Amino acid sequence: MPHTICLIEGDGIGPEVTAAARAVLDASGAELTWLPLAAGAAAAERFGDTIPEATLEAIRTHRIALKGPVTTPVGKGFTSVNVRLRKTFNLYAAVRPVRSLRGIRTRYENVEIVVIRENTEGLYSGIEHEVVPGVIETLKVTTKAGCERIARYAFAYARSRGRKKVTVFHKANIMKRADGLFLDCARRMHEEVAPEIALEELIIDNGCMQLVRDPSRFDVLLMENYNGDMVSDLCAGLVGGLGVVPGANIGDEGAIFEAVHGSAPDIAGKGIANPLGAIGSLALLLRHLGELGAAERIDAEIERVVRAGQVTRDLGGTLSTEACGKLVADGIAQAP
Ligand code: NAI
Repeated sequence: MPHTICLIEGDGIGPEVTAAARAVLDASGAELTWLPLAAGAAAAERFGDTIPEATLEAIRTHRIALKGPVTTPVGKGFTSVNVRLRKTFNLYAAVRPVRSLRGIRTRYENVEIVVIRENTEGLYSGIEHEVVPGVIETLKVTTKAGCERIARYAFAYARSRGRKKVTVFHKANIMKRADGLFLDCARRMHEEVAPEIALEELIIDNGCMQLVRDPSRFDVLLMENYNGDMVSDLCAGLVGGLGVVPGANIGDEGAIFEAVHGSAPDIAGKGIANPLGAIGSLALLLRHLGELGAAERIDAEIERVVRAGQVTRDLGGTLSTEACGKLVADGIAQAP
């Protein structure tokens, strides 16, 4: 059954990296049609809204999207497009597989971690107010339903992928109620969904130290929204940086796939951004649709170009975004 994929190019390096992913998909022969949609700072200028209603309607209809990063103003301005999309479509699970790629020089060679992050609540509820002048409150909203849902997802994910351990990062020593609830739900979902998988609990500060000391001891990581945002970037740093890590935002009624990096204004328009995170996100999208063969071919091609040292500047190479994407696309087109 042919699918329509909503395509949000996004801001900054978004159009460059999504164009590379698009070229790869076109080379794969998968029967998918692109539906380009506007969102982000550029959409706000053209349509007066960072997510025009036509974009929301199309995602509601087709339920699947590949998205480039979008710029969010710091300390002022509009609500994050990502937060809005994740809340609107209830994309409660952010899934970010972080793995070592042979050929990239990093401190570690054997990282194989999947970060699973609650994506709709916690500190990113977006509810802030000034209580009295000079005193701001930001609400961290934690619900039993939300915690159970993400924990159930994480254990089901671990079981279906043959993973051995889920480590929960938390701060329940300080946020006894909120993170205590998160931890309690993780324990119960562990028993209910996958008791054969090991459950480990670490206070997040110790967890971060353990991650940089020996990431190979970790398998699946489960955490709430804010912690997951930080820790997934930290994990990206273990395997070569933000340019190589793909991501998925999964809900029961839709899914949006995007690399973990942002719009990188410092390199936007220069044609030097690494497209592998976006291309890897396309592979996750295809796997989600059941197109396993195409997804595996893309992952294998990413490994091949990196092993051959055919990479962009962030990884020490000289390739442009387009050339890197074309190498992957050509490899896919030539694959038997
Ligand atoms: P960033 O991820 O855009 O950039 C951080 C650093 O990593 C920069 O030096 C950048 O050049 C580099 N980098 C990022 N992606 C790269 C790639 N593909 N290839 C090579 N180098 C790459 O994070 P930053 O600067 O904190 O945020 C910039 C904007 O992006 C902000 O407006 C932020 O809100 C937004 N953002 C959007 C996200 C999304 O839409 N999913 C995620 C993260 C940030």
